[in-house]
Amino acid sequence: MKLFLFTLLLISGITDSRSDQFAVVGSADSVFAFAGEDVLLPCSVKPNISVVDMKVEWFRLDQEYSVVHLYEDHVDRNTEQIQSYKGRTELNHQQLQTGNASLRLSAVKVSDEGRYKCFIQSKSGSDDATIDFKVEAVGNPPVITVDGFDRSGGLHLLCESEGWHPEPDLEWLDNKGVRLSSETTETQRNTDGFSVKHTVTVHQRDGKIHCRVKMKHHMLEALISSTSNMYLYRRTSVIVISVSVVLIVIAGILIAVAVYKYREHRRLQHENSRMKSEHRRLQHENSRMKSVINHLRKLMAVNVTLDADSAHRDLIVSEDGKQVKWGHTHNRKVGGNNRFTKYLGVVGKEAFSSGCFYFEVQVKDQTVWNLGVARESAEWKSSISLSPENGFWTVSKRYEKYNASSDPLSLSMNPQRVGVFVDYKKGLVSFHDVKSMFHIYSYTGQFFIGKLYPFVCLWSLNSTPLIICDVTNEESE
Ligand SMILES: *[C@@H]1O[C@H](CO)[C@@H](O)[C@H](O)[C@H]1NC(C)=O
Ligand SMILES: *[C@@H]1O[C@H](CO)[C@@H](O)[C@H](O)[C@H]1NC(C)=O
Repeated sequence: MKLFLFTLLLISGITDSRSDQFAVVGSADSVFAFAGEDVLLPCSVKPNISVVDMKVEWFRLDQEYSVVHLYEDHVDRNTEQIQSYKGRTELNHQQLQTGNASLRLSAVKVSDEGRYKCFIQSKSGSDDATIDFKVEAVGNPPVITVDGFDRSGGLHLLCESEGWHPEPDLEWLDNKGVRLSSETTETQRNTDGFSVKHTVTVHQRDGKIHCRVKMKHHMLEALISSTSNMYLYRRTSVIVISVSVVLIVIAGILIAVAVYKYREHRRLQHENSRMKSEHRRLQHENSRMKSVINHLRKLMAVNVTLDADSAHRDLIVSEDGKQVKWGHTHNRKVGGNNRFTKYLGVVGKEAFSSGCFYFEVQVKDQTVWNLGVARESAEWKSSISLSPENGFWTVSKRYEKYNASSDPLSLSMNPQRVGVFVDYKKGLVSFHDVKSMFHIYSYTGQFFIGKLYPFVCLWSLNSTPLIICDVTNEESE
């Protein structure tokens, strides 16, 4: 009995020395939280006296220098706090008045898991409680990779998943739910949790293989469907497959190129024959037009004879009035009140004041000339320019250059014989190269008053004649 009393005294004495006024209570069970969530680590004093004036310290039992949160002299003093808890801990100062010193921890991390001590100290005593905190983290969904084939025809599969806490189980299941044993297993631990990596070799065809990663209350699963096609090439090396793929691609390109070339060739052939037939058609059209024009030439052609009395004194007009060339005339005194005195010009004897007429002048070998028609009322004695305003409708050659009035002409040919067609009523004077039927120039929409004379003019002092051609009597080509 004495011993019992002594023991009782001793126990109560010890108890008194630890906390004569209060006891600190935590949680008998472990506290659980998922990574990323907020959690309350419970801690309070019994009886529920205020701890506002006391020191409240939370620290990790399993780490050195491990202040998680410190409240002292009425304020939070977190200069010594573990780095990873910075900004994530909170003591509710309001709740301290009712003896509630629970610590709120936000955005829980896997690394927060551990044993915590809640230590409360008054001026007269202190007490503490231990809280076991467990963190669970559900990792990423597993990923299955086909890692290749082996010689026996098996399909190598790899399943990986990371970010789990605590360590998860990984299992392979076939389509009937039968567990397949992993060939290799690998587990790594880091601050974010566990990562697992398992391999398996399957031989079955046309089946689904599951990779299941699970933790107490959570499970994530991946599925791969293997078809017999996957096994078809099991004995064929990947190199052979890729070589044949390359060959197929090259063959495809070659075929495409060949098809393209063939089509292009056909297209060109077709185009060519089309062009040929078009060419024949145009040739035919051309010769038809030529014969029509020849016919018209002969119909329209008038018999032009040059009037020697109108010719400049330095021109020699032939007896028949069909040629004119430079040279000192023998009949200088003959004729001529109305002859050209400035230009080496001459007009035809016949004038026209209605209808259509046509004549041709051979200009072969002569390098400098003018030809066309001249109005009766034009000033033949002056050196005004040979333009429609002055009563001259002509084309001219000055060595290599051709002009219509003052407009330069670009001709691809060098006319040997020039045809002049006049439609008096329509006000048209048109010039063309007789041989090629090529149009040289046309004065259109002109207004004629009085008579029009065929007109030719020389400029050079050489004796090459201009010849009026006899269109009506010439042999047909
Ligand atoms: C203690 O305080 C926290 C807030 O910090 C509160 O959420 C909790 O319910 C309180 N516990 C008790 C038992 O009153
Ligand atoms: C302490 O708890 C008792 C009941 O357990 C309650 O009646 C009292 O109001 C509480 N005191 C404070 C300050 O919260």
